[in-house]
Order: sequence, then structure tokens, then C-alpha cells
Amino acid sequence: MNNKVCSKAFLIGEYSITKENHSAIILKVDKYTYADIEFSNEYYIKSDIFDYSINSIDIKDEKYQVIIDSICGVNRYLKELKIDIKKIKLDIKSELFNNGNKYGLGSSGAIIVLIVKSMLKLYNLPFDKLLLFKLSAIIAKTRNDIGSYADIATISFDNNIYYRNFNKNFITIDKSITSLLKDDWNYLKIEEINFNLKSTLLIIYSGVSISNNLMLKNIDIKDDFYIKNEVLTLAIKNDIEKNDIENFKKNIIKARILLNELSNKIEILQLQEIIENSFKTGNIAKTSGAGGGDCAIVFSFDQKNLNNFKNINKYKIVEEKKYE
Ligand code: PMV
Ligand code: MG
Repeated sequence: MNNKVCSKAFLIGEYSITKENHSAIILKVDKYTYADIEFSNEYYIKSDIFDYSINSIDIKDEKYQVIIDSICGVNRYLKELKIDIKKIKLDIKSELFNNGNKYGLGSSGAIIVLIVKSMLKLYNLPFDKLLLFKLSAIIAKTRNDIGSYADIATISFDNNIYYRNFNKNFITIDKSITSLLKDDWNYLKIEEINFNLKSTLLIIYSGVSISNNLMLKNIDIKDDFYIKNEVLTLAIKNDIEKNDIENFKKNIIKARILLNELSNKIEILQLQEIIENSFKTGNIAKTSGAGGGDCAIVFSFDQKNLNNFKNINKYKIVEEKKYE
């Protein structure tokens, strides 16, 4: 297909990243969402995760709403640039679902970035990664999507990133997109990371899919967590840039403990089993993202340990990636 975007997994900084001026490290995952797009006489929009298509963007459709909002958002931007808006045919395919259940690798963020990217290319508008992020973030905010938008940043930059969150209150629907793009994005920082940690990463699906909104609503983040997690994020950034495996292991263990102290809803039994089996076989692991389901990440530094883990693991390995 013509266009594709990657997906993401949190390494460190989940929950504390929801606050402005706090940071996280998020990994690029090579699971893709694809789009074919062309100008057309009528709207025709189809996603392979639903069993029906739609032929208008002036409708409300629960399942297609993120797609509709993304197209309308870009159309609004085109109009501000005085570009003639044309109808499109859009065909989307996703690798982020397992029998209709999401893995939690950033499926709705991926859809927004994919549509923005595909439409900007279709209209021959030049753009860089930061513009792609900002346009996608404006669309997400005007949809009232909550969260840090760290997923949107990773997917826009198509790389492992260090992300610092910003205050999004200035993004309101009454302002033009062109003026919002020029605004002050206060604490925002997106830095592509040199991932020098020699290791193998496994992303493992717990078999349970969960919504971030539900997790965020039920978890009360204390000041102490913000401070400790921020310190760990900066330490882990240093560990992966310097290939400091011993410190990395210690810091991931600390991160796991902090998350478990934050709430016992994060590391559900399935995730706990994956993580304990990792430690039992000499590897390290933690939950990735909001927890409560979705995926765990496992890091291995030794082929034998990795094989031993795989021999006892019962859960689906969504991705295996070697960093050399
Ligand atoms: O579950 P994930 O991988 O989408 O991560 C959610 C991370 C949170 O910090 C809990 C929310 C957010 O938007 O950053
Ligand atoms: Mg999740």
C-alpha cells in the first residue's frame, strides 16, 4: 500500500508523562497501519478492522469517528491554506489487532498520523516530522482525546524517542490550525534516541485489551511518583545511550516496583506471569504503557536466557527486535 506508519511501546515514563514538563521514552514497534488513498468522485472509506465501509464524512459513526475526525481536521487545514478540498477514497489496513482486539500499540494515534500523512502527501504539501506531530496532536486535542500524545509523537517521528509533554490548553477549536501551529508549544520536546543498548526486545500480548481512559480514571498519581519516575526516565535514557546494561537492568526493576506501588491494577496476573517468567530465566521485564492488559516488554541480553524464556512463555510474542 502507498502509506504506512509504525506503532509504539512505552519503555519508561507511563503515567508521569500525562503531566506537562514530564518525560518518557517510547520505542518504535515494527507493526504497521497502511493506507491507500486517492482522489475520488465520492467518499469511500474502509478499514479492515470493521466489516462495513462509509461514504460520507458528514455523519457520526462510533467506529469510524477517529477516521472521520482526522479527515475533517486535515480538510479544515487545507481550507485555511485556500486549497480546493476534494473527496477521497481511503482504504486502511492494520496489523495492530488480534481477532478484533487491540494489542495496545497505539492504534488510534496511528490512524490519526496515518491519515494526516497520507493526505498531506496526496495534496503534495511538504511537511516534516514535527509538523506531522503538531497537526495530529491538534486533531487529537479537538476530539478531546486525553493522554500524553507520546504515541502520536513516536509514530510521527517513526523512531525511538524521548518525549517531554506540554500543556495542551492553548489548543482550542475556535483557533485556526495555522495559528495553532505557530503558537508556543511550551514544554514540548521530541528527541530521537540513539538506542545503543545491545539487547533483544520482546513485546508480549497479555491476551487482554484495555482502554487507557479506564486506567487513567481509576489511578490516582501522587507527587512522589511523578518525581521518582522522572528521575528513572532520565537515568534509563542515559543507560540506553551508553549501553550500560547493568544499570539498565536495575532501573527497569525500580520502574516495575514504582508502577506496582502506584496501583495493583497495572500488573494484572497475565502480565505478572510474563514478567516473572522473564526474571526466572535471567531476563528483565515490565509492563508497557497503562497496563491492566495489553503488553509487557521483555529485554534479554543473552541468547540462552532468551530461548529459556521462550520455552516457558505461553503468551503471544507480537514483536521480536534485536538491537545491535
Ligand atoms: O497503554 P499505552 O501504551 O497506550 O500507554 C499509556 C500511557 C499513559 O501514560 C498511562 C497514558 C498516556 O497517554 O501517556
Ligand atoms: Mg495500553
